[in-house]
Amino acid sequence: MQTPVTRLYPAPGGQHPLEGLYLQHQLHRQPDKPYVYSNFITSLDGRISLGNKDTTTHTVPAETVNPRDWRLYQELAGQSDLLITSGRYFRQSLAGEAQDQLPVGNQAEFADIREWRLTQGLPPQPDIAILSSSLEIPIASLEPYRHRRILVITGETSDQTRVDELLASGIEVIRAGSGSRVDGQRMVSQLATLGYQSIYAIAGPAVFYTLLKANVINRLYLTIAQQLLGGEVFDTLTRGPLLAPARGMSLISLYHDPYAPAGAGQLLGVFEPGD
Ligand SMILES: NC(=O)c1ccc[n+]([C@@H]2O[C@H](COP(=O)([O-])OP(=O)(O)OC[C@H]3O[C@@H](n4cnc5c(N)ncnc54)[C@H](OP(=O)(O)O)[C@@H]3O)[C@@H](O)[C@H]2O)c1
Repeated sequence: MQTPVTRLYPAPGGQHPLEGLYLQHQLHRQPDKPYVYSNFITSLDGRISLGNKDTTTHTVPAETVNPRDWRLYQELAGQSDLLITSGRYFRQSLAGEAQDQLPVGNQAEFADIREWRLTQGLPPQPDIAILSSSLEIPIASLEPYRHRRILVITGETSDQTRVDELLASGIEVIRAGSGSRVDGQRMVSQLATLGYQSIYAIAGPAVFYTLLKANVINRLYLTIAQQLLGGEVFDTLTRGPLLAPARGMSLISLYHDPYAPAGAGQLLGVFEPGD
């Protein structure tokens, strides 16, 4: 982890330690409140996940996952007061298919991030918002997170019986959307009312689409692992009806990390919506 990354943009370049690269971004102190940001790791051919052989589920390709990108993911979580995740994560988590526990990780190597949060006046761990239309969220999968505030966000027509079950087990439910789906704009304005300032979306393509459609994304962190994977069943960053107009993104910074994944390297890009 001591090996540096090289800044390609903006010029002049130079070498920088990987650790701390994103922690200094002050995402919890931005003038836009709440500040909404997301992060993905993709292969060079655009895959964020691949279909599993014997199930209908998808997982992040082992060829792209690496501890250096994971460190940056944890640093981004370190600056958030709320994570946005999905019903899918909790279903896969119960089935033992999730990549890891939700951040910030309890591992020793992330102790500095956990301590840093406290010095910044952030709570020990970010709260959790779960987007779901189906409300098929196994209550048992929420148990490890009972020390955090858990909000389930759904649409107005989602099943009331399931809402009642969640409420009865101490989970808060917010309705923010006219059908069963969540509307990104309504969700973010309700989260602003609750006082959230830095919201980190760590779900996949449908949640990212919801945020893009509503024009509420302030920043995208994108790691491009320089691996070509192929495959026929995969996810890309976003999925939904064509975005019209397309969302232009301006490059804020770009670093090259030659050390991972092994034999490939990766580019670390930061993008913001163009004017
Ligand atoms: N490489 C990466 O950086 C990266 C990052 C994130 C995820 N992934 C991978 O991408 C794959 C897909 O992830 P994902 O399933 O979490 O992504 P997703 O497609 O964003 O989320 C799917 C679930 O979120 C809920 N949802 C999404 N938008 C909604 C809306 N507007 N209203 C209500 N509910 C909404 C639905 O839950 P219900 O079904 O409960 O209704 C839906 O099934 C997974 O394999 C994951 O591991 C990769």
